[in-house]
Amino acid sequence: MGRQEAIPLMAPFKMGPFELSHRVVLAPMTRCRADGYVPRPHTAVYYSQRATRGGLLIAEGTGVSATAQGFPGSPGVWTPEQVAAWRPVVDAVHRNGALFFCQIAHVGRVSTNDFQPDGQSPISSTDKQVSPDAESGMVYSKPRRLRSDEISGVVDDFRRAARNAIEAGFDGVEIHGAHGFLFEQFMKDGANDRTDEYGGSLENRCRFTVEVVDAVVGEVGAHRVGIRLSPFADYIDCVDSDPVALGHYMIQQLNRHEGFLYCHMVEPRMAIVDGRRQIPHRLLPFRKAFNGTFIAAGGYDREEGNKVVEEGYTDLIAFGRLFLANPDLPRRFELDAPLNKYDRSTFYTQDPVIGYTDYPFLEDDVQQQQVKYSEA
Ligand SMILES: Cc1cc2nc3c(=O)[nH]c(=O)nc-3n(C[C@H](O)[C@H](O)[C@H](O)COP(=O)(O)O)c2cc1C
Repeated sequence: MGRQEAIPLMAPFKMGPFELSHRVVLAPMTRCRADGYVPRPHTAVYYSQRATRGGLLIAEGTGVSATAQGFPGSPGVWTPEQVAAWRPVVDAVHRNGALFFCQIAHVGRVSTNDFQPDGQSPISSTDKQVSPDAESGMVYSKPRRLRSDEISGVVDDFRRAARNAIEAGFDGVEIHGAHGFLFEQFMKDGANDRTDEYGGSLENRCRFTVEVVDAVVGEVGAHRVGIRLSPFADYIDCVDSDPVALGHYMIQQLNRHEGFLYCHMVEPRMAIVDGRRQIPHRLLPFRKAFNGTFIAAGGYDREEGNKVVEEGYTDLIAFGRLFLANPDLPRRFELDAPLNKYDRSTFYTQDPVIGYTDYPFLEDDVQQQQVKYSEA
């Protein structure tokens, strides 16, 4: 396998104050391998396997408080024990030369009473329950609508979590404003049915998210803050009647902060055109409107990633499933090497190795082939 010419995905990029050596970002992925909301040593192995000099990794959705959780085995960053357990994970990534951002998250109503302190109801913008998940059969509990005087407490949880993440050594935080979780339960008019200053108009629906952005920027500095948004998504009963206006409004709000680091946006669901899956590519207007670094995600592969980086559609691409299954994805892209296939059945299982740290590196394949060859 010969070395290929430099491809757009492997071109360096300056993201605010950070020098990246390529454009292949690890997308945030919940992997359910924590224990009692505390990350464990195998998580250091998983992330450091995916770390390259000058690469950017975004950690999985990480809870900001005791009410933030809804997945077994997802980590948190609100207690001293969690912060201490993140430190060696972050150190292992840094030793391999990558930047590491923590995705700070709150699931809101995508939870059950079992996950909540004292078996309380999950909190949300609304008391409307999410419809049961047809695929997994998961039934979420009926949420409790936050009173407007409680919202500043949740904003403070995000502020504290951001501070904790920096104390754990992360280079910055990504606010998880996507995929039907708490922020979208406020931002999207299909979910938010409030009549106070956090409901109704677009400005009101975005108020909570904007307050969190402002608080987190105030706490750790704009150059350490990114946000993930998915205005087009329809996950977990969160749909907006005007996703373009929603995306533009949020970008205007991010642009108020000089040096706000990045906006990470998820493409609409893939469309089937002439029997082929195609990424709809609807993010360009947002990329043009945003002053900072733009990250696109959702369905990308090497060919499509190279194409859109070259065209200036985005600065960086976050890869989810391909990076999960290929710890050395940037190198495989560079060499145009074959990729391991991901195994969906182990995405969310709890084994510390299987489907987590046991996906082979390219060298492993070569070694195995050599063993086979020498045995033949
Ligand atoms: C196992 C798994 C867990 C995920 N967990 C998260 C998460 O914690 N936070 C998030 O914003 N997105 C999450 N996602 C979405 C991915 O970040 C990404 O947007 C999605 O997989 C689409 O990109 P891809 O086509 O490159 O896989 C998850 C996806 C997978 C497959």
